[in-house]
Amino acid sequence: MPEKIKTSEITDEATYLNRRNFIKAGIAAGSLAATTSAFRFFSPAGSNAPQPPELAEVKRSGPSSDGLTPNTWEEITNYNNYYEFSTSKSAVAAKAEALVTRPWTVEVGGMVQKPKTFDIDELLKFDQEERIYRFRCVEAWSMVIPWVGFPLKKLIDSVEPLGSARYVAFQTKYDPIRMQSSFSAGIDFPYVEGLRLDEAIHPLTILATGLYGKQMPNQNGAPIRLVVPWKYGFKSIKSIVKIMLTDREPPTTWNQASPEEYGFYSNVNPDVKHPRWSQASERRIGEIGMRPTMPFNGYVDEVASLYSGMDLKKYF
Ligand code: MTE
Repeated sequence: MPEKIKTSEITDEATYLNRRNFIKAGIAAGSLAATTSAFRFFSPAGSNAPQPPELAEVKRSGPSSDGLTPNTWEEITNYNNYYEFSTSKSAVAAKAEALVTRPWTVEVGGMVQKPKTFDIDELLKFDQEERIYRFRCVEAWSMVIPWVGFPLKKLIDSVEPLGSARYVAFQTKYDPIRMQSSFSAGIDFPYVEGLRLDEAIHPLTILATGLYGKQMPNQNGAPIRLVVPWKYGFKSIKSIVKIMLTDREPPTTWNQASPEEYGFYSNVNPDVKHPRWSQASERRIGEIGMRPTMPFNGYVDEVASLYSGMDLKKYF
């Protein structure tokens, strides 16, 4: 079991710098490049941007964190997809300031024994762990993000699913007054997503409540969003208000918008081409050049068995 330590000791960016980047960056050499990277890591972003409060307590680390260098706070919070606010990735952060995240409840129900509506503060008291995951968007960019959250399984277990439940349906808050791009974004709202129940209770699947030890910034899906690291980013639905267990495959926003381009499963798969572009490589934000995309986003060992016997070109 990971030891419990205070958030302030582990997750600010300077600590990341010490732990992962500072020495590698060769600051002592005093080169221009080193100075630039020191500046980059020490001055978290858009320094005027509002900084969310720290999470009270966070357990360190989790599966698949080894060897991954996280993107900076600035990169993670200024290059976002959140169509309710804007279809421009660089515009989301400012527009999402309008999102009201208190009070906030998450209704969990459907095919369960004990349906319950959780207050967000109750969910923030679930054991919070830091998990450094690769995150890959469908448009061929990727990041490494130090999410903080808890396994979705914990929430699902607490409402006691019926034996007949097979899928989990998720829904984002819909507030057309504040979500001003919602009439022109070209997709229907509220944003909805779905997972098979076995995917939902997989240990890699988390409900994230923060990143870098702080509460989730609005643009990244405050106050609580899904993270499914072996699937394309659009499965990781933001600002969730409803989670329903069901026996039917639930509708998903991008599949409804363009079924030939976006399947229900959307597992990261370099062998399945998107009709308009290859999915074989990706650009890690902050890097020059492309790197090859890994099957299941690098989590083959953990998740491939969920799909044994399935034709993943058909069920893309
Ligand atoms: N959730 C909602 N409600 N609305 C969205 O537009 N975009 C998705 C996903 N979740 C989206 C969403 C897409 S396409 C991606 S790549 C990720 O959020 C981006 O998450 P990030 O901005 O935290 O990197």
